[in-house]
Amino acid sequence: MAEVKTHTFDAVIVGAGGAGLMAALYASKSVNVAVISKLYPTRSHTGAALGGIGAALGNNGEDHWEWHAYDTVKGSDYLADQDAVDILCKEAVETIVELEHMGLPFDRTSEGRISQRRFGGHTNKETGKPVPRACHAADRTGHMILQTLYQQCIKNKVNFFDEYHVVDLIRVGDTVRGLVAVELSTGDFHVFHSKAVHFATGGWGRCWEVTSNAHSLTGDGAAICLRRGIPLEDMEFFQFHPTGIFKLGILITEGVRGEGGILINGQGERFMERYAPTIKDLASRDVVSRAIFLEVQAGRGINGKNYVHLDVRPETVNRYFEEAGDSRRITKQFIEEKLGETVDLGRTYLGIDPVHEPIPIQPTAHYAMGGIPTDVDGRVILDAQNTVLPGLYAAGEVACVSVHGANRLGTNSLVDLVVFGRRSGVHMARYCQETELLPLPEGPADEVMAEFDRIRNGSGGVRAHELRQRMQTTMMANVSVFRTEESMTKALAELRQLRTEYDRNIQIDDKSKNFNSDLLEAWEVGCLLELSEVTTISAVARKESRGGHAREDYPRRKDDEWMKHSLCFLEGDAYRLGYKPVVPGRYQPKERVY
Ligand code: FUM
Repeated sequence: MAEVKTHTFDAVIVGAGGAGLMAALYASKSVNVAVISKLYPTRSHTGAALGGIGAALGNNGEDHWEWHAYDTVKGSDYLADQDAVDILCKEAVETIVELEHMGLPFDRTSEGRISQRRFGGHTNKETGKPVPRACHAADRTGHMILQTLYQQCIKNKVNFFDEYHVVDLIRVGDTVRGLVAVELSTGDFHVFHSKAVHFATGGWGRCWEVTSNAHSLTGDGAAICLRRGIPLEDMEFFQFHPTGIFKLGILITEGVRGEGGILINGQGERFMERYAPTIKDLASRDVVSRAIFLEVQAGRGINGKNYVHLDVRPETVNRYFEEAGDSRRITKQFIEEKLGETVDLGRTYLGIDPVHEPIPIQPTAHYAMGGIPTDVDGRVILDAQNTVLPGLYAAGEVACVSVHGANRLGTNSLVDLVVFGRRSGVHMARYCQETELLPLPEGPADEVMAEFDRIRNGSGGVRAHELRQRMQTTMMANVSVFRTEESMTKALAELRQLRTEYDRNIQIDDKSKNFNSDLLEAWEVGCLLELSEVTTISAVARKESRGGHAREDYPRRKDDEWMKHSLCFLEGDAYRLGYKPVVPGRYQPKERVY
């Protein structure tokens, strides 16, 4: 085996998005921390969360953290754990103020307060009407959070290992000892020896063909944990955001509808009036995505095709405002300022100007509600009894606390990152202060290096991109906004075939060491295949419809039987499903009406 370089830190964090940086910032106040990222930190996918971060500041109208919690629980279709939701919504308020004090350039009201806009599913609990709760920096909010936190981490002397790709967790029994990573520029393997490990690697939208997720969102952290004996929770719930650019999937923020944009079908109808008569285009994402899908299925897509229009032209929006007795009005200049990123995306990727033309959109695979199970301090748990694996943490999209349940409320991804990133960073620092560094086992990188050798030396003629394309096509067709037993069984058969081809016949063309993206992408495809299979297995088993999991063959939610979280374990080569109860709270399940 080649020589492996070893580094030692108290804590190592994988991923430099909002959750990883927030955890690093807090842990680095008292212990020695490294952040390992396969990207340059400010290229992390947090930057793609555009429209806002929710908190009940009440700056643009009455609001309360309990209303935010109600919307979160209702949006989750009652599968969220309500102890965690209370923490999320209460701590959101102080965390926004903290971000502002760090220098985050939020937009302002005319009185100089942080400006808040409407977003899907954010309501006044008494009236059901929209409440402006999304604090925003134009439509580049995630990007601003990343820049702010990265600057703070640099100031706090966090050690960054940029363009290092983590490929294994070193677990010995019920202890963690560190990580194995590949340095992109040299192809060398590195061992990071530590007391604690924190995964903040984001989601796995790249399992689907049309996705808002960057190419880097391949679920590495979730797949690594699964291989090291940690179950994955609620994997059947994957959110389709209603407004991805047609065919490309790139996100058009919900902030567009928050500012008055409306969805129009091929017959020129504002069709959301049929599906959500009170809140219309600002219903929860699962509701809007299903509505678009049904309009298309009924032949009411634009020109009979599988997309609809998102219209934010001032003349259209102002006409609807007038009809609704809403005093708001928008102008071309307002759109350019508040939705500048959206305007740029339209011009760059579609060659249209959203100020003058409607945007063609379709639902796009956007967000994993499930992931690595954790408690409210980010500690990873191992089973239905909530047994903690000491020293292992996760936060952000890769984790499942669970605050999103079966469907995440818009803006709550950013809230989740900063609230649970901070809590896990604080807890991890304390853990490191109280814990000795345990020795590394013999050859900690040997197993994963052997897997890389297998991929590098394979000669079966099957290329990773072919497998990826077939996986994405089958997931898009069969494990999508709507699913059935039949469609998912078909997907499972194809995924198992792809897995066999991956295990037996994978071959890459680039055999070199430096910047070998051919090799690393092939390894990533292995992660995506596993996560696609876990998603589908968990989804076949759940015989009800709830949130982002809409089964045509089981169209109703069944609280008596299915008010529980799924846990999928990998045991040898086989997957096993288990379940654990949902943590109840002040909001009782009822039918969702918008
Ligand atoms: O629509 C958006 O701006 C996305 C935000 C989110 O996923 O919460």
